[in-house]
Amino acid sequence: MVVLGIESSCDETAAAIVTDDRRILADTIFAQIAEHTPFGGVVPEIAARAHLDHLDDTIAAAMRQAGMKFADLDAVAVTGGPGLIGGVIVGVMMAKAIALAHKKPFIAVNHLEGHALTARLTDDVAFPYLLLLVSGGHCQLLVVEGVGRYQRLGATIDDAAGEAFDKAAKLMGLGFPGGPAVAKAAAGATAPFRNLPRPMKGRPDCNFSFSGLKTALRQRVDALKAEHAFDDATRANLAAGFQAAVVDCLIDRTRHALELAQAAHPTLSALVVAGGVAANQHLREALHKLAAKHGIPIVAPPPRLCTDNAAMIAWAGIERLHAGERSGFDYAPRPRWPL
Ligand code: KG4
Ligand code: ZN
Repeated sequence: MVVLGIESSCDETAAAIVTDDRRILADTIFAQIAEHTPFGGVVPEIAARAHLDHLDDTIAAAMRQAGMKFADLDAVAVTGGPGLIGGVIVGVMMAKAIALAHKKPFIAVNHLEGHALTARLTDDVAFPYLLLLVSGGHCQLLVVEGVGRYQRLGATIDDAAGEAFDKAAKLMGLGFPGGPAVAKAAAGATAPFRNLPRPMKGRPDCNFSFSGLKTALRQRVDALKAEHAFDDATRANLAAGFQAAVVDCLIDRTRHALELAQAAHPTLSALVVAGGVAANQHLREALHKLAAKHGIPIVAPPPRLCTDNAAMIAWAGIERLHAGERSGFDYAPRPRWPL
């Protein structure tokens, strides 16, 4: 089975062609960084227009990369939500048009399910597994029991981890997108700030919270600015301290979830991390240590497949098609769609 995947729910215009024997024949991404940088964040209206401008070329590039024509495809999969609705509409309309014109099945996929199942594309992980899903819009711990079978152990009560990185970068004047900017600044730290708070650490549930950490960071930045001490070196130390605090929180909550999941599911196969924040090197290293301590494999897809991409959408489509599903052409794009 060969499936074209389309992703346009945030600020990446992406197309990929993936086979059901787990080969990525093409994977093209147009990142709208230049469009959004002047505004310091993703502007939904600009994102929707940029998807409209670039989706044709991005899909054509994927078809060329795979050396294929639309007639060679077995199906078209697209992100049907959740996400910025203008972009989702652009992707869904395009996918429907290609599928209708070439008489192929069409399947609308949950973007979060794309992230959740990526590890089965890259590493053939068996169900059940524990998933730490950390992106710009979501921060959750789930036991993935099967396709469409997700048991949520915990989630953020305020900001997502990626959102926290993005807001912190803005506060420190590090630019957009925030996660990579904070990580880059942190790499130059000589004496990372140590006493930023670790919200929720040690709590008996598996939830997250980052708004208090963000407030503490803002207070530090304001105080340093008032003392005229907010130079590049201080900024690097603050970035490193912030990154360490976020990673600490993620690891503490994941440790607790892992203990619960291992007790409830003796066949738990792996600890999997997904979503844009999973590209963070410090988090990856800390998760490796955590998994080793608990005697379980860690699966962290390559960073390119952690941030938004269309290969994960094609793959989630394949998993759904294998289960005998397809979407109707009356499918309506969804701004919200919990897993
Ligand atoms: O999954 P994703 O590409 O888009 C959403 O579905 O949200 O995740 C984007 C998020 C952004 O908040 C970005 O700052 C964060 O992932 N991110 C990172 C890194 N790379 C991307 N956060 C920390 N460290 C990184 N290296
Ligand atoms: Zn995403």
